[in-house]
Amino acid sequence: MAAQVPLMTPYKLGKFNLSHRVVLAPLTRQRSFGNVPQPHAILYYSQRTTKGGLLISEATGVSDTAQGYPDTPGIWTKEQVEAWKPIVDAVHAKGGIFICQIWHVGRVSNAGFQPNGQAPISSSDKELTPQIRSNGIDVAQFTPPRRLRTEEIPLIVNDFRVAARNAIEAGFDGVEIHGAHGYLIDQFLKDEINDRTDKYGGSLENRCRFALEVVDAVVNEIGADRVGIRLSPFANYMQSGDSNPNALGLYMTEALNSYGILYCHMVEPRMIVLGEKSEVPDSLVPMRKTFKGAFISAGGYDREDGNKAVAENRTDLVAYGRWFLANPDLPKRFELDAPLNKYNRETFYTPDPVLGYTDYPFLETTI
Ligand SMILES: Cc1cc2nc3c(=O)[nH]c(=O)nc-3n(C[C@H](O)[C@H](O)[C@H](O)COP(=O)(O)O)c2cc1C
Repeated sequence: MAAQVPLMTPYKLGKFNLSHRVVLAPLTRQRSFGNVPQPHAILYYSQRTTKGGLLISEATGVSDTAQGYPDTPGIWTKEQVEAWKPIVDAVHAKGGIFICQIWHVGRVSNAGFQPNGQAPISSSDKELTPQIRSNGIDVAQFTPPRRLRTEEIPLIVNDFRVAARNAIEAGFDGVEIHGAHGYLIDQFLKDEINDRTDKYGGSLENRCRFALEVVDAVVNEIGADRVGIRLSPFANYMQSGDSNPNALGLYMTEALNSYGILYCHMVEPRMIVLGEKSEVPDSLVPMRKTFKGAFISAGGYDREDGNKAVAENRTDLVAYGRWFLANPDLPKRFELDAPLNKYNRETFYTPDPVLGYTDYPFLETTI
């Protein structure tokens, strides 16, 4: 039976023995009051844990300048590290493998989120125009960012290094560096934003320098076998387009090979606009072929599509966002080809500790 469902076949991810290939995608839920993970996250993550399943945490801030949304968790203070521990323990108790996605929003912020009301930092001082939030309801306003000086960049690299150390201290099995979706790392990678004239801007090599310095620092701190990265060369969320996403994706995957990291997690080109699937001619296959480690694909997958991608060896693992959010037992449903709960966008980012968070029904209770 299991052999007929490619998503349900085992996979050896570095030292981790995964029992299936259905990964929980990183999902910001904005229920970490005051940037501190809350006890209700214990139930949320453990509901989505299977023995030998891989979970990636919601994006987690690396420092006090990293935030751009209310109530997103951090991992730069002792209190935050301690608060993560029981959540990680709960995932481990059920046999899950738990990776912390570490994040800096860069210019996708405003002064209200910044220490002393200062300007958010970025690769550039280009202002982001107000954006409709991904819940499709309210509009986010941004403060014009301050361009980082060349000599400040190592300090931000160091914030990622310390956050990775803290994640290991909290018990996580590794970290995923958030290099996607128009946030700080992507603000260096993409030529629509990066207009620097120093060694961090201009050529492809220079634009990728910051990302690779972060990878290098994190690898040196916690070991390559515990490090993944998420990239979205094709996406243009938060005005983060690139004039040549194929070249960018290929350069990064090639460069990442020299670090021997655990995985590369890429967002499908069809996810150009957040939450919308478009028909596109591009594909992740050239990057999948270039990258020598494990490959995770995400973006717009359903059961059939995920099975096909694994069967055709276009990816090793598939990360599911919205379907996993709404179906805590998604791997089981895929195994049985059972119907799925629909997701409710209106509760994606609301602060309720239960509603739209831990109250999505399991299969047993729906039939
Ligand atoms: C509610 C919500 C929160 C998200 N938060 C994050 C996040 O913290 N980090 C990230 O890299 N992507 C985030 N994403 C993107 C998802 O990880 C995923 O790539 C996207 O939903 C597309 O996959 P899907 O079609 O399976 O939902 C988020 C998406 C949603 C819907």
